[in-house]
Amino acid sequence: MRLILIGPPGSGKGTQAKLLSQRFALGHFSTGDILREAIHLNTTAGRQAQPFIAKGQLVPDDLVNEMIVERFHSQNRPEKFVMDGYPRTLAQAASFDQLLRQMFLDLTAAVVLVVPDDEIVRRLSGRRYCPKCQATFHTVFKPPRRAEDCDDCGAGLEQRQDDQENTVRRRLSIYHQNNKSVRDHYRSQGLLRELDGTEPIEKVFAKIVALL
Ligand code: AP5
Ligand code: MG
Repeated sequence: MRLILIGPPGSGKGTQAKLLSQRFALGHFSTGDILREAIHLNTTAGRQAQPFIAKGQLVPDDLVNEMIVERFHSQNRPEKFVMDGYPRTLAQAASFDQLLRQMFLDLTAAVVLVVPDDEIVRRLSGRRYCPKCQATFHTVFKPPRRAEDCDDCGAGLEQRQDDQENTVRRRLSIYHQNNKSVRDHYRSQGLLRELDGTEPIEKVFAKIVALL
């Protein structure tokens, strides 16, 4: 199974990618997580990406394309994977197509999680994430067992710097600018599957599984 998850910020890409990767033993590639890790480690790529992420803007295509190419060329690259937040521009989709062709890998589907903007703002204000293992929680929809600690590794949970309302609105507007061309790209390949991302987490997961 080789999947791409597409959706606005906060639509549940990370949540669903984690469930899918556990259920089907898929490699999970989140460019957001990779970039936050690079910032945390203060690498060259992290220093380049930081100002874009802080403002809610997209990191330049070349930088993210290169990060993905590197991972797919590494020794322990997975045969089966779920992409979370990549590709998100037409240039990234073209670069990823080329990479997959080189590796003789076909995609199974590009799944779009459809969630209205107002719901997104509500969700992201309650999101908490684990800086150590990247697990994601929500104060109301998916509360951690102990108020401020990660269920998976016990580290202290944090709020993402780009989850403030004005930054979320900017991320949403950038998503809408790019999304149509990315959707059209995968629709023309017969891979696009759209589903309602507003239902509870387990229901959305069951629908993705049924769809595949
Ligand atoms: P990234 O980290 O990918 O952020 P994003 O796309 O904005 O999406 P999020 O991670 O915010 O949301 P999500 O869809 O994963 O939702 P989640 O599962 O957490 O990217 C961050 C930044 O990095 C970008 O702004 C950009 O600067 C840069 N970047 C990354 N990739 C890039 C690329 N390819 N090109 C250029 N730049 C790039 O869920 C959200 C919350 O809702 C959680 O609290 C969760 O518990 C809850 N929740 C999830 N599902 C449900 C549900 N069904 N019902 C109720 N609550 C739910
Ligand atoms: Mg995410």
